[in-house]
Amino acid sequence: MKLRDRRVAITGAAGFIGSHVADVLAGSCDLVLIDNLSSGKKGNLAGALKKGRAKFVREDLLGGKLPSLLKGTEVVLHFAANPDVRSSADDPNPTFEENIVATFRLLEASRKAGVKGFVLASTSTVYGEAARVPTPEEYGPLMPISMYGASKLTCEALAASYAHTYGMESVVFRFANVVGGRSRHGVVWDLVQKLKRNPKKLEIIGREPGTSKSYVHIDDAVRGILAGADRASGPQDVYNVGSYDAISVKEIAETIVREMELSDVAFTWTGGVAGGGWKGDVKRMILDTAKLRMTGWRPKFTSAEAVAQAARDGLSSFIKR
Ligand SMILES: NC(=O)c1ccc[n+]([C@@H]2O[C@H](COP(=O)([O-])OP(=O)(O)OC[C@H]3O[C@@H](n4cnc5c(N)ncnc54)[C@H](O)[C@@H]3O)[C@@H](O)[C@H]2O)c1
Repeated sequence: MKLRDRRVAITGAAGFIGSHVADVLAGSCDLVLIDNLSSGKKGNLAGALKKGRAKFVREDLLGGKLPSLLKGTEVVLHFAANPDVRSSADDPNPTFEENIVATFRLLEASRKAGVKGFVLASTSTVYGEAARVPTPEEYGPLMPISMYGASKLTCEALAASYAHTYGMESVVFRFANVVGGRSRHGVVWDLVQKLKRNPKKLEIIGREPGTSKSYVHIDDAVRGILAGADRASGPQDVYNVGSYDAISVKEIAETIVREMELSDVAFTWTGGVAGGGWKGDVKRMILDTAKLRMTGWRPKFTSAEAVAQAARDGLSSFIKR
């Protein structure tokens, strides 16, 4: 599924991953950038909008305007979601609405508008606590341990059914933890915010040394999306996107402290839940990316380098907010 030189709509375009993808496609595609700005920032799209072939539309996927917005669109890149695993345990309803219902509405609107290709941002959490690590795409059965993971697995299934039933080819990307500038959620963001408030003491969720997971830098993730989509063969194709290795939460905290040039920071641990930070937190995750590497793509950053680079990328903007 070619992405360049197409008429493309990006949902969640003002968010972290969506805005970086918009930056890369803005030169070669006609873009409709859709976001309700619930967590995204229009400022993230300044670069893409400057290139002239992009327009921004503030719209909620759960609203009624999607069919007219998608008129003439060839490919939909779907990044809008509630990406917070932790809050999905406190109340599963927003995750159900914003991920499952919104994706269904988007697929329906896409079908009616004659969209030919659908790219879905999915997640490593669809694997749950996988018995095989690094975990390849064909691993199963898929048993997510969080409502967030379940919602994304449902979205994958919906996209598969639209691909087979209506000929709307789909490509699914299962991301490890993506880090980099403009991200406003996840452990890097969380720890930086805490250290801004108190540079001497850092409360970390979980039990020392915390979970061990793979982190991928946004530049590697965006290149992965382009490479995977380019090579994908229908009706539905699935790619893992991650780095080769994992890093513990303690190492992340130490990296951020170093990048913020702080010293003598006292770490305290909350204890967490069942070995993870919270209910539904996967303890160990590395994705097998052999399939994406077949396209020639390689991650440039290890997990530790990705986190350090993300801290550098984002520090000035984190600190301004
Ligand atoms: N960042 C990660 O580590 C990661 C990992 C795996 C999967 N993903 C998935 O990638 C996608 C993008 O994640 P992100 O980190 O950029 O998140 P993000 O929160 O930065 O971006 C999501 C964007 O969607 C918008 N949005 C949310 N609900 C909407 C709605 N109903 N209508 C219109 N806009 C809406 C938000 O305003 C935000 O700009 C998500 O689907 C997420 O589940 C992210």
